[in-house]
Amino acid sequence: MDKFVIEGGRKLQGSVRVSGSKNAVLPVLAATLLTDEPVVIPNAPDVSDVRQMLKVLEGLGSKWERSKEGVLTVRSAQVPHNEAGWDCVRKMRGSIAVLGPVLARTQHARVSLPGGCVIGVRPVDLHVKGMKALGAKVDLDGGDIVASAAGGLRGDEMYLGGAQGPTVLGTANVMMAATLAKGRTVIHGAACEPEVVDLGECLNKMGARITGLGSPRIEIEGVDKLHGCTHAVIPDRIEAGTLVIAGAITGSKIRVEGCRPDHLMILLERMREAELPHHFGADWIETMAFDQRKKRAKPTEVTTLPHPAFPTDLQAQWIALMTTADGMSLVTETIFTDRYMHVAELMRMGANIRRQGASAIVTGPANLKGTQVMASDLRASAALVLAGLVAEGTTEVHRVYHIDRGYARIEQRLAELGAGIARVDDDPDAIATDTAPATETITPTKPAVLPKPAATQAVPVKPAAPVAKSAPARPAAKKPKAKVARR
Ligand code: EPU
Repeated sequence: MDKFVIEGGRKLQGSVRVSGSKNAVLPVLAATLLTDEPVVIPNAPDVSDVRQMLKVLEGLGSKWERSKEGVLTVRSAQVPHNEAGWDCVRKMRGSIAVLGPVLARTQHARVSLPGGCVIGVRPVDLHVKGMKALGAKVDLDGGDIVASAAGGLRGDEMYLGGAQGPTVLGTANVMMAATLAKGRTVIHGAACEPEVVDLGECLNKMGARITGLGSPRIEIEGVDKLHGCTHAVIPDRIEAGTLVIAGAITGSKIRVEGCRPDHLMILLERMREAELPHHFGADWIETMAFDQRKKRAKPTEVTTLPHPAFPTDLQAQWIALMTTADGMSLVTETIFTDRYMHVAELMRMGANIRRQGASAIVTGPANLKGTQVMASDLRASAALVLAGLVAEGTTEVHRVYHIDRGYARIEQRLAELGAGIARVDDDPDAIATDTAPATETITPTKPAVLPKPAATQAVPVKPAAPVAKSAPARPAAKKPKAKVARR
């Protein structure tokens, strides 16, 4: 199990390119099951959730290959197996996205029912409701969703929103199933997230007939067959947002390239309110340098809501940023109301945060100090890394396999910007393993030194270069203290 060792307090400088979106590519990979022809994805991010989804597809009978350049080709000539068992779904809840495609293609699917997860209760009742509306018979058997539609699926008009609003993967699942249903399907209360739009555009390239993408009313005219296509997924808006916050939290000038600022307008607006200097163009966002001894961010109020409001997937990172603001900020989480695992860890670094129901009250500016912290989920890990970039001294973020699920080589890309961050092999005996790693992690072959501070490097603004597999590591990184070992 790896950890990140971060020397805080360095300014960042330079440019970094955003990867293809993890949350866009996962349903697109599921959609490859809808055709017997190859689907080519030139920019699938090399993150462990994608590798896990490819294992799920392999289990269903698909074949895939990734070229040296990173181009992913997936072909499901047949779908001889129609089961995604507990082992897949346990490791990645996104595996539920194969339910609709497998059902539509083979008229039968068995997918394990996901349990709760660290960010809270995550039901799939709306996915089931959508399949039933399309005429499937759905039962629960031994913890599995068993869906069948002997005569094929048929289109219907349905309302798919739930108590917490629309569902992203639920909309994706029903939309995929409906492409091969007989007749017309109308989804009211559909998710408007860019990842749903991207999936719909990919399906349309495959021959589907979908309209209304990006609105809460999506219409799908069923077709007999879909074909292969080439589809580059949208840039990862959450990775882009995290990198922008890295620039803002360190008061640095960095350029985040190859992103879609129009997918992040709410983040940019809240940064404007916080008086964090930045500007943006068609496909880039640049944060501006400022002296944090003289100027602090203003506190803000943020509520997570479905797109285009503030994304839940940036809530943890925003809290990390607001710990450095001058005053009291209010953050309210309405999508996953318990998604606050990062709060206790940020408090161990010196943040002043009080939880009240689904809100967190963050009082700054905190004098964050480096310490041992534990990553608990993907975005919480990102928040701890961001806090580590500004904390005084050394922060060790344990269990970084969480961050590897959705950020490709994040430590190397931050190090290229001048951050003092390295991946090192953690002492496996120092931490109780109450959570097994969800997916494989990259272990460095040998330790090396932390990168030099940006101030001493001439780092021109440049496109991010491909990086080597193992990150430099700090020699003699401190062993986790006994306190951490007992967790
Ligand atoms: N919900 C239901 N019933 C359902 C499905 C969802 O009540 O059948 C509720 C959820 O409990 C939640 C709300 O609806 O309160 C929205 O959940 P949604 O279904 O939209 O979440 P998801 O599709 O499972 C995706 C992303 C998450 C992201 C959410 C919200 C993927 C693979 N995952 O999950 O991403 O937080 O949408 O935007 O696309 C992440 O990347 O870190 C991550 C967790």
